Amino acid sequence: MASSDATTPADLHAPESTRRDFLYVATGALAAIGGIATLVPLITQMNPDASTLAGGGPVDLDVSKIEEGAQVVVYWRQRPIFVFHRSQQTLQALQSRQMVSLLADPNSEELQQPPYATNWHRSVKPEFGVLVGICTHLGCIPLFYPQPNATSPTPNWPGGYFCPCHGSKYDPAGRVFSGVPAPYNLPVPPYRFVSDTTIRIGENPSGSTFDFSSIRQL
Ligand code: FES
Repeated sequence: MASSDATTPADLHAPESTRRDFLYVATGALAAIGGIATLVPLITQMNPDASTLAGGGPVDLDVSKIEEGAQVVVYWRQRPIFVFHRSQQTLQALQSRQMVSLLADPNSEELQQPPYATNWHRSVKPEFGVLVGICTHLGCIPLFYPQPNATSPTPNWPGGYFCPCHGSKYDPAGRVFSGVPAPYNLPVPPYRFVSDTTIRIGENPSGSTFDFSSIRQL
């Protein structure tokens, strides 16, 4: 497995896009942490064909298979997409004054998500989070630590995502904490529900023309 401290002095002087690409590849093995137990059966179950994956076409996922409190990671346009089935406890935490006080952009004012995910839960349905799992600092893949009031990865951890490369923190809606290296919330990809239980990543809901490339920091 790749080391969590993937940056070298040479990398720090590379063009930013190169550094981000490097970190993305170097930490790719971390993507499955937190989701590896369910990733393989879900990938098999949704069974996108090779041409769909290679072409960056939409990817369907049956979210009814994701247990409450669990996350799976699927790939869309070669990016890890975190799909998190949030518990009621997590939804309450997202709205708590304590959590909001920790955040740099609690109201998602930066263009890091489609209009239909510009809300307190940054998603179409509150109980399912859908995020591009790439840190907005230098492109590492944040780790999933959903448990609140934990002592790891940091003391008094409130639940969310932790980037091991330089310590950036995000809440369970991908909202970045204040005072960390990452400047923006995790992006939300275009997606819609094609049935009560199936999401299609890569397509907007009817009536939306959101352009994924308009996101400020991918
Ligand atoms: S890449 Fe630096 S904190 Fe995530």
